[in-house]
Amino acid sequence: MKIAIGCDHGGLLLKDVILPLLAELGHEVYDQGTDSPVSVDYPHYAKAVCHLVANEACDLGILICGTGIGMSMAANRNKKIRAALCTDMYSARMSREHNNANVLCLGARVIGPGLAEEIVRTWLATAFAGERHLRRIEMF
Ligand code: RB5
Repeated sequence: MKIAIGCDHGGLLLKDVILPLLAELGHEVYDQGTDSPVSVDYPHYAKAVCHLVANEACDLGILICGTGIGMSMAANRNKKIRAALCTDMYSARMSREHNNANVLCLGARVIGPGLAEEIVRTWLATAFAGERHLRRIEMF
């Protein structure tokens, strides 16, 4: 799949863990930055990733900040984006299966790298179940 990814300074260390995982899983990665620990504004990176996903240049997106909260708020301002902030495996799976989330948000200061990797693996491997869940997301 084509995966867009972005982070702010708070998410950079975790992005550097997730990038090799995406490569190992065989995905084509579109890294929108940031690439330095200098303080930046997360909405800029949320918009860049969501633009690629909303325009179908990428299949899915991943956004990482300190808590994942700012990224998820910013991402969900885009009407074509269903961004899910996940801190556990169950939510990661259900956000794809029931909500057809097209952007995954992670909080680098909330979860450790091992859990984050498992969340990303699960999220990317889970398909949307459709049916009644399609009707529901069409009501957004
Ligand atoms: C940056 O300090 C921090 O506010 C940001 O990474 C994020 O947690 C915002 O929601």
